[in-house]
Amino acid sequence: MNQSQQEFAIRVRELVVGFGRQTVLDHLSLDVRRGEILGLVGASGGGKSVLMRTIIGLIPRQGGTIEIMGQPTRGRTEGAAMTWGILFQQGALFSSLTVRQNVQFPLRENLVLSQELMDEIAIAKLEMVGLRAQDADKYPAELSGGMTKRVALARALALDPPILFLDEPTSGLDPIAAGDFDALITTLQRTLGLTVFMVTHDLASLTAVCDRVAALADGRIVAIGPMRELLQSEHPWVRAYFHGKRSQMLQHEMR
Ligand SMILES: Nc1ncnc2c1ncn2[C@@H]1O[C@H](COP(=O)(O)OP(=O)(O)OP(=O)(O)O)[C@@H](O)[C@H]1O
Ligand SMILES: [Mg+2]
Repeated sequence: MNQSQQEFAIRVRELVVGFGRQTVLDHLSLDVRRGEILGLVGASGGGKSVLMRTIIGLIPRQGGTIEIMGQPTRGRTEGAAMTWGILFQQGALFSSLTVRQNVQFPLRENLVLSQELMDEIAIAKLEMVGLRAQDADKYPAELSGGMTKRVALARALALDPPILFLDEPTSGLDPIAAGDFDALITTLQRTLGLTVFMVTHDLASLTAVCDRVAALADGRIVAIGPMRELLQSEHPWVRAYFHGKRSQMLQHEMR
Protein backbone atom coordinates (compact mmCIF):
# COMPACT_ATOMS: atom_id res chain seq x y z
CA MET A 1 0.00 0.00 0.00
CA ASN A 2 1.32 3.43 -0.83
CA GLN A 3 0.99 6.36 1.52
CA SER A 4 -2.17 7.88 0.08
CA GLN A 5 -3.90 4.49 0.23
CA GLN A 6 -3.10 4.32 3.92
CA GLU A 7 -4.15 7.88 4.60
CA PHE A 8 -7.51 7.98 2.81
CA ALA A 9 -10.55 5.75 3.14
CA ILE A 10 -12.31 7.42 0.22
CA ARG A 11 -10.90 9.51 -2.63
CA VAL A 12 -13.24 11.16 -5.08
CA ARG A 13 -11.81 13.01 -8.08
CA GLU A 14 -13.64 15.16 -10.65
CA LEU A 15 -16.91 13.31 -10.08
CA VAL A 16 -19.71 14.16 -12.51
CA VAL A 17 -23.25 12.86 -11.86
CA GLY A 18 -26.49 14.00 -13.43
CA PHE A 19 -29.99 12.95 -14.36
CA GLY A 20 -31.20 13.87 -17.84
CA ARG A 21 -30.24 17.48 -18.40
CA GLN A 22 -29.70 18.16 -14.68
CA THR A 23 -26.08 18.07 -13.48
CA VAL A 24 -26.05 17.37 -9.74
CA LEU A 25 -22.34 16.83 -9.04
CA ASP A 26 -20.01 18.87 -11.23
CA HIS A 27 -16.36 17.79 -11.08
CA LEU A 28 -16.54 17.19 -7.34
CA SER A 29 -13.38 16.14 -5.47
CA LEU A 30 -13.25 14.99 -1.87
CA ASP A 31 -10.93 12.99 0.41
CA VAL A 32 -12.15 11.18 3.51
CA ARG A 33 -9.29 10.31 5.86
CA ARG A 34 -9.09 6.94 7.54
CA GLY A 35 -10.50 6.99 11.03
CA GLU A 36 -12.14 10.40 10.80
CA ILE A 37 -15.75 11.45 11.19
CA LEU A 38 -16.44 13.72 8.23
CA GLY A 39 -19.66 15.73 8.21
CA LEU A 40 -21.27 16.84 4.93
CA VAL A 41 -23.57 19.86 4.71
CA GLY A 42 -25.29 21.30 1.67
CA ALA A 43 -28.56 22.75 0.48
CA SER A 44 -31.60 20.49 0.34
CA GLY A 45 -31.61 18.91 -3.11
CA GLY A 46 -27.95 19.87 -3.52
CA GLY A 47 -26.72 16.31 -4.05
CA LYS A 48 -25.56 14.99 -0.66
CA SER A 49 -27.52 11.75 -0.87
CA VAL A 50 -26.60 11.41 -4.54
CA LEU A 51 -22.91 11.74 -3.62
CA MET A 52 -23.20 9.02 -0.99
CA ARG A 53 -25.14 6.72 -3.31
CA THR A 54 -22.66 7.27 -6.13
CA ILE A 55 -19.70 6.45 -3.88
CA ILE A 56 -21.27 3.10 -2.98
CA GLY A 57 -22.17 2.40 -6.59
CA LEU A 58 -25.95 2.73 -6.50
CA ILE A 59 -25.96 5.65 -8.95
CA PRO A 60 -23.80 5.60 -12.09
CA ARG A 61 -21.35 8.42 -12.73
CA GLN A 62 -20.72 10.26 -15.96
CA GLY A 63 -17.13 11.10 -15.11
CA GLY A 64 -14.41 11.05 -12.51
CA THR A 65 -12.87 8.40 -10.28
CA ILE A 66 -13.69 6.97 -6.87
CA GLU A 67 -11.32 4.95 -4.68
CA ILE A 68 -12.48 3.13 -1.56
CA MET A 69 -9.72 1.82 0.72
CA GLY A 70 -7.25 2.30 -2.10
CA GLN A 71 -9.31 0.32 -4.61
CA PRO A 72 -10.82 2.05 -7.66
CA THR A 73 -14.57 1.33 -7.87
CA ARG A 74 -16.59 0.53 -10.95
CA GLY A 75 -20.24 0.50 -10.00
CA ARG A 76 -21.43 -2.27 -7.71
CA THR A 77 -18.72 -4.72 -6.86
CA GLU A 78 -18.58 -8.06 -5.11
CA GLY A 79 -17.62 -7.84 -1.48
CA ALA A 80 -18.46 -4.14 -1.36
CA ALA A 81 -20.81 -4.71 1.55
CA MET A 82 -17.85 -5.93 3.60
CA THR A 83 -16.19 -2.54 3.09
CA TRP A 84 -19.00 -0.21 4.07
CA GLY A 85 -22.26 -0.07 5.94
CA ILE A 86 -24.90 2.54 5.26
CA LEU A 87 -27.76 4.09 7.15
CA PHE A 88 -30.04 5.51 4.46
CA GLN A 89 -31.90 8.79 4.89
CA GLN A 90 -35.24 6.98 4.81
CA GLY A 91 -34.52 4.42 7.58
CA ALA A 92 -35.47 1.50 5.34
CA LEU A 93 -35.77 -1.54 7.60
CA PHE A 94 -37.61 -4.44 6.02
CA SER A 95 -41.07 -4.15 7.59
CA SER A 96 -41.91 -7.85 7.23
CA LEU A 97 -38.72 -8.96 9.02
CA THR A 98 -38.06 -8.86 12.76
CA VAL A 99 -35.25 -6.76 14.20
CA ARG A 100 -33.11 -9.91 14.42
CA GLN A 101 -33.78 -10.83 10.79
CA ASN A 102 -33.07 -7.26 9.66
CA VAL A 103 -29.68 -7.27 11.37
CA GLN A 104 -28.93 -10.73 9.96
CA PHE A 105 -29.88 -9.74 6.42
CA PRO A 106 -26.35 -8.67 5.30
CA LEU A 107 -24.92 -11.83 6.93
CA ARG A 108 -27.28 -14.05 4.95
CA GLU A 109 -26.53 -12.16 1.74
CA ASN A 110 -22.76 -12.31 2.07
CA LEU A 111 -21.70 -15.23 4.26
CA VAL A 112 -22.58 -18.83 5.01
CA LEU A 113 -23.03 -19.10 8.77
CA SER A 114 -24.98 -21.37 11.10
CA GLN A 115 -28.25 -20.02 12.49
CA GLU A 116 -26.76 -20.20 15.97
CA LEU A 117 -23.81 -18.02 15.04
CA MET A 118 -26.03 -15.54 13.21
CA ASP A 119 -28.25 -15.25 16.28
CA GLU A 120 -25.22 -14.59 18.45
CA ILE A 121 -23.94 -11.93 16.08
CA ALA A 122 -27.36 -10.24 15.87
CA ILE A 123 -27.64 -9.99 19.66
CA ALA A 124 -24.05 -8.71 19.96
CA LYS A 125 -24.72 -6.01 17.34
CA LEU A 126 -27.97 -4.97 19.02
CA GLU A 127 -26.21 -4.64 22.36
CA MET A 128 -23.42 -2.68 20.70
CA VAL A 129 -25.93 -0.03 19.57
CA GLY A 130 -27.62 0.10 22.97
CA LEU A 131 -30.62 -2.16 22.34
CA ARG A 132 -31.62 -5.19 24.39
CA ALA A 133 -31.81 -8.83 23.35
CA GLN A 134 -35.57 -8.79 23.93
CA ASP A 135 -35.95 -6.14 21.19
CA ALA A 136 -34.76 -8.72 18.64
CA ASP A 137 -38.20 -10.25 18.11
CA LYS A 138 -39.99 -6.93 17.51
CA TYR A 139 -41.10 -5.79 14.08
CA PRO A 140 -40.12 -2.34 12.70
CA ALA A 141 -43.68 -1.03 13.27
CA GLU A 142 -43.21 -1.73 17.00
CA LEU A 143 -40.08 0.46 17.33
CA SER A 144 -39.65 4.13 18.24
CA GLY A 145 -37.82 6.43 15.81
CA GLY A 146 -34.62 6.27 17.85
CA MET A 147 -34.79 2.48 18.10
CA THR A 148 -35.32 2.24 14.34
CA LYS A 149 -32.14 4.24 13.72
CA ARG A 150 -30.24 1.98 16.12
CA VAL A 151 -31.47 -1.19 14.41
CA ALA A 152 -30.49 0.28 11.04
CA LEU A 153 -27.07 1.05 12.53
CA ALA A 154 -26.73 -2.50 13.89
CA ARG A 155 -27.57 -3.81 10.43
CA ALA A 156 -25.04 -1.44 8.81
CA LEU A 157 -22.37 -2.78 11.17
CA ALA A 158 -23.34 -6.46 10.86
CA LEU A 159 -20.37 -7.32 8.65
CA ASP A 160 -17.87 -5.19 10.62
CA PRO A 161 -17.15 -2.82 7.72
CA PRO A 162 -14.37 -0.24 8.17
CA ILE A 163 -16.47 2.57 6.63
CA LEU A 164 -19.86 3.79 7.80
CA PHE A 165 -22.11 6.10 5.75
CA LEU A 166 -24.83 7.95 7.64
CA ASP A 167 -27.42 10.05 5.81
CA GLU A 168 -28.99 12.46 8.32
CA PRO A 169 -28.92 9.93 11.18
CA THR A 170 -30.40 12.27 13.81
CA SER A 171 -33.10 13.96 11.75
CA GLY A 172 -36.51 13.40 13.30
CA LEU A 173 -35.08 12.58 16.73
CA ASP A 174 -35.67 14.78 19.76
CA PRO A 175 -32.56 16.62 21.01
CA ILE A 176 -31.88 14.09 23.78
CA ALA A 177 -32.22 11.08 21.48
CA ALA A 178 -30.11 12.89 18.88
CA GLY A 179 -27.42 13.58 21.49
CA ASP A 180 -27.48 9.94 22.57
CA PHE A 181 -27.11 8.84 18.96
CA ASP A 182 -24.18 11.25 18.47
CA ALA A 183 -22.49 9.81 21.55
CA LEU A 184 -23.05 6.29 20.20
CA ILE A 185 -21.46 7.18 16.85
CA THR A 186 -18.47 8.72 18.60
CA THR A 187 -18.01 5.66 20.84
CA LEU A 188 -18.33 3.22 17.93
CA GLN A 189 -15.92 5.25 15.84
CA ARG A 190 -13.35 5.17 18.66
CA THR A 191 -13.75 1.56 19.68
CA LEU A 192 -13.99 0.11 16.17
CA GLY A 193 -11.67 2.61 14.45
CA LEU A 194 -14.37 3.34 11.87
CA THR A 195 -14.24 5.95 9.16
CA VAL A 196 -17.58 7.78 9.24
CA PHE A 197 -19.02 9.86 6.41
CA MET A 198 -22.11 11.61 7.70
CA VAL A 199 -24.64 13.93 6.07
CA THR A 200 -26.18 16.12 8.75
CA HIS A 201 -27.84 19.50 9.26
CA ASP A 202 -27.52 19.18 12.99
CA LEU A 203 -25.18 21.94 14.22
CA ALA A 204 -24.68 20.12 17.50
CA SER A 205 -23.53 16.97 15.64
CA LEU A 206 -21.25 18.99 13.38
CA THR A 207 -19.63 20.68 16.34
CA ALA A 208 -19.47 17.82 18.82
CA VAL A 209 -18.97 14.76 16.63
CA CYS A 210 -17.26 15.65 13.35
CA ASP A 211 -13.48 15.92 13.01
CA ARG A 212 -13.97 17.84 9.77
CA VAL A 213 -16.91 19.26 7.88
CA ALA A 214 -17.30 19.51 4.10
CA ALA A 215 -19.72 21.90 2.41
CA LEU A 216 -21.37 20.97 -0.90
CA ALA A 217 -22.59 23.85 -3.09
CA ASP A 218 -22.98 24.21 -6.87
CA GLY A 219 -22.17 20.52 -7.27
CA ARG A 220 -18.75 20.75 -5.63
CA ILE A 221 -17.05 20.76 -2.25
CA VAL A 222 -16.52 24.48 -1.67
CA ALA A 223 -15.04 24.28 1.83
CA ILE A 224 -13.60 21.51 4.01
CA GLY A 225 -11.91 21.55 7.41
CA PRO A 226 -12.58 21.54 11.14
CA MET A 227 -15.83 23.30 12.11
CA ARG A 228 -13.97 26.38 13.36
CA GLU A 229 -12.44 26.81 9.88
CA LEU A 230 -15.82 26.39 8.19
CA LEU A 231 -17.17 29.15 10.40
CA GLN A 232 -14.46 31.42 8.93
CA SER A 233 -15.18 30.47 5.32
CA GLU A 234 -15.77 33.34 2.91
CA HIS A 235 -17.86 31.24 0.51
CA PRO A 236 -21.28 32.92 0.21
CA TRP A 237 -23.33 29.74 0.67
CA VAL A 238 -21.22 28.55 3.62
CA ARG A 239 -21.50 31.99 5.24
CA ALA A 240 -25.25 32.04 4.73
CA TYR A 241 -25.53 28.51 6.14
CA PHE A 242 -23.54 29.05 9.33
CA HIS A 243 -24.11 32.76 9.85
CA GLY A 244 -27.73 33.08 8.73
CA LYS A 245 -30.28 34.18 11.33
CA ARG A 246 -31.36 30.70 12.34
CA SER A 247 -27.91 29.25 12.92
CA GLN A 248 -26.73 32.46 14.65
CA MET A 249 -29.52 32.00 17.15
CA LEU A 250 -28.55 28.37 17.72
CA GLN A 251 -24.86 29.12 18.03
CA HIS A 252 -25.63 31.89 20.48
CA GLU A 253 -27.61 29.46 22.60
CA MET A 254 -24.89 26.83 22.36
CA ARG A 255 -22.40 29.21 23.98
N1 LIG B 1 -32.62 8.66 -8.91
C1 LIG B 1 -32.77 9.95 -9.27
N2 LIG B 1 -33.29 10.27 -10.48
C2 LIG B 1 -33.41 11.56 -10.86
N3 LIG B 1 -33.07 12.60 -10.10
C3 LIG B 1 -32.56 12.34 -8.89
C4 LIG B 1 -32.39 11.01 -8.39
N4 LIG B 1 -31.86 11.06 -7.14
C5 LIG B 1 -31.71 12.37 -6.87
N5 LIG B 1 -32.13 13.14 -7.90
C6 LIG B 1 -32.07 14.61 -7.96
O1 LIG B 1 -30.76 15.00 -7.59
C7 LIG B 1 -30.79 16.20 -6.82
C8 LIG B 1 -30.03 15.98 -5.52
O2 LIG B 1 -30.77 15.10 -4.68
P1 LIG B 1 -30.23 14.59 -3.28
O3 LIG B 1 -31.20 13.59 -2.79
O4 LIG B 1 -28.82 14.17 -3.40
O5 LIG B 1 -30.30 15.91 -2.39
P2 LIG B 1 -29.81 16.11 -0.89
O6 LIG B 1 -28.66 17.07 -0.92
O7 LIG B 1 -29.58 14.79 -0.26
O8 LIG B 1 -31.07 16.84 -0.24
P3 LIG B 1 -31.77 16.66 1.23
O9 LIG B 1 -30.97 17.50 2.17
O10 LIG B 1 -33.14 17.26 1.01
O11 LIG B 1 -31.78 15.21 1.56
C9 LIG B 1 -32.26 16.56 -6.64
O12 LIG B 1 -32.59 17.53 -7.61
C10 LIG B 1 -32.98 15.25 -6.93
O13 LIG B 1 -34.25 15.49 -7.47
MG1 LIG C 1 -30.51 13.70 1.18
